[in-house]
Amino acid sequence: MATESKKDWILMATARSPTNIAVVKYWGKRDEALILPINDSISVTLDPSHLCTTTTVAVSPNFDRDRMWLNGKEISLSGGRYQRCLREIRSRAGDVEDEKRGICIGKEDWGKLHVHIASYNNFPTAAGLASSAAGFACLVYSLAKLMNVREEQGKLSAIARQGSGSACRSLFGGFVKWEMGKVLKCTKDSAGSDSIAVQLADEQHWNDLVIIIAVVSSRQKETSSTTGMRESVETSPLLHYRSTEVVPKRILQMEEAIRTRDFPSFARLTCADSNQFHAVCLDTSPPIFYMNNTSHRQVPHSFIVTNWFFRIISFMEKWNRFEGTPQVAYTFDAGPNAVLIAPNRKVASLLLQRLLFYFPPSTDTELKSFVLGDQSIVKDAG
Ligand code: DP6
Repeated sequence: MATESKKDWILMATARSPTNIAVVKYWGKRDEALILPINDSISVTLDPSHLCTTTTVAVSPNFDRDRMWLNGKEISLSGGRYQRCLREIRSRAGDVEDEKRGICIGKEDWGKLHVHIASYNNFPTAAGLASSAAGFACLVYSLAKLMNVREEQGKLSAIARQGSGSACRSLFGGFVKWEMGKVLKCTKDSAGSDSIAVQLADEQHWNDLVIIIAVVSSRQKETSSTTGMRESVETSPLLHYRSTEVVPKRILQMEEAIRTRDFPSFARLTCADSNQFHAVCLDTSPPIFYMNNTSHRQVPHSFIVTNWFFRIISFMEKWNRFEGTPQVAYTFDAGPNAVLIAPNRKVASLLLQRLLFYFPPSTDTELKSFVLGDQSIVKDAG
């Protein structure tokens, strides 16, 4: 089969993908090129109508090279991560026929055709809100759709993983586990195909949960996750202990807490994991501080730096201690923005009221709340 002789056609596909929030975190790779992690991780996928990436991919015989635009600005596709995702998808491409327009693309033609990619994040890029997770999940899904790749979602997740580790989990809705895979070090024959995401429970399973994201800084983080975790792997003794002794047990406990919708256990594990992740960052040499002083408040004659994250952790911990059993959970990724989780709308509205009282909104603070029940997996948006 050959591409049509006319050169004035263009084929497009659009997809939308949500970001995900890790409750047992991925931190550290055993293979940098293939992005294979040193431990399993578990996340919650957010509702795609809130924090999400929308990507349109197009192919035409008129395109002379692959190009990509992120939020309207052209970016380079020369990086290994983009190249790997494009190569993996092209190698699985199928035949595409559009009878109405007389377009016929054979699977052998995809190697000769170039793509244009336009991607848009409706939230700050690289500010610790897992923009690369939504971005690569969406890129892989939309390319797979355009090129008629007939692979199950798990296999696609292994491709998205090679763009950004956490991206593999955004291919599914609900609660998702990224299995690290069995092969410890990769050889030519073991390309990490068992390091994939699996859905633990769908978006309806625990749809009372409410997730509140307090965006206190939309600035790009100083140390990227990739660099940070490389430095932790090289220098942190705590990371070795975490990945071998702590996370394997915590994963089993978290799976059980999710299965039984046991909020107190879920909250305890989520907070403990976030705190240990940031302890590993501090244990790295030189230390990495993701939870910066970000909330600045001007008062007459002095300038107070409000240490937002310590205050929010202490506020949440005090609340839980006062009640005797965890009512709310918090987790911080590689940035100062807080992700707060409540077991239902009633507690969430109390949490919002208290947050607004103790942390009145300033120009750089924005609270967004998401109800889990509305979330779903990556969507075709057109
Ligand atoms: C703290 O997936 O962004 O958010 O694989 O190098 O692209 P790369 O890293 P990335 O790291 C995410 C780290 C985290 C924890 C998590 O999402 O599990």
